[in-house]
Amino acid sequence: MNKSLRPAVIAGNWKMNKTPAEASALIAELRPLVADAGCDVVVCVPFVDLPAALEAVKGSNIRVGAQNCHWEKSGAFTGEISAPMLREMGVSYVVIGHSERRQYFGETDATVNRRVRAALDEGLTVILCVGELERERELGITAEVVATQVKVALSGVKAEELSRIIIAYEPVWAIGTGKTATAAQANEVCALIRGVVASLYCDKCAGGMTIQYGGSMNAGNAEELLAQPDVDGGLIGGASLKAKDFSVIVAAASK
Ligand code: PGA
Repeated sequence: MNKSLRPAVIAGNWKMNKTPAEASALIAELRPLVADAGCDVVVCVPFVDLPAALEAVKGSNIRVGAQNCHWEKSGAFTGEISAPMLREMGVSYVVIGHSERRQYFGETDATVNRRVRAALDEGLTVILCVGELERERELGITAEVVATQVKVALSGVKAEELSRIIIAYEPVWAIGTGKTATAAQANEVCALIRGVVASLYCDKCAGGMTIQYGGSMNAGNAEELLAQPDVDGGLIGGASLKAKDFSVIVAAASK
């Protein structure tokens, strides 16, 4: 399947970093460095940074995403943020099912699915995170684990909505650890995910889907990872907090 059929997307996942003022400053630094990007560039920022980020990206090629959304439109869910709230602000992307949400905040495949559904209903583009734990890789069940996560997360998602789904393959053992998957490991699982999408929908649907790798991607290893035939971009944590490093990854994805 031809890589040029799908957009390369580099997304920064800032996690719980940067105040609104710091967010504006980082985006101001980033803007000129990625102005000529040959890929889509997204920054997924903390909720409270969204207004500042949306203001700071005006007139640029950078898009803004949130890091989660609730499955209901409104209601008694203290501390949560809904998809309609994000849409009304002008947010275009939302990360769903990040392993830190699954690990520390009790997210399950079922709640991830409901959040995906809610985000799609509001016209948002979803960056859906999947990935195995270290123990699961050791047990040789990576393929089953990842396939199940993808199948449950996409249940009830229509083929025509897939253009608003990006899947990020993020092996949990590689996140924030400095331990990157090898390019071959990353490609193998991204290809497997594409196969699952093909089996659920169609070959053309799978061929058009952007599948990112995430987990300690940085300025030094991005080029090799992004050169893999099934790796169409990256979800970048730590390295997205430094404008220069992030822009080197964007440049690598633009080739
Ligand atoms: P990392 O995080 O690049 O810091 O490993 C990636 C992510 O969690 O999305």
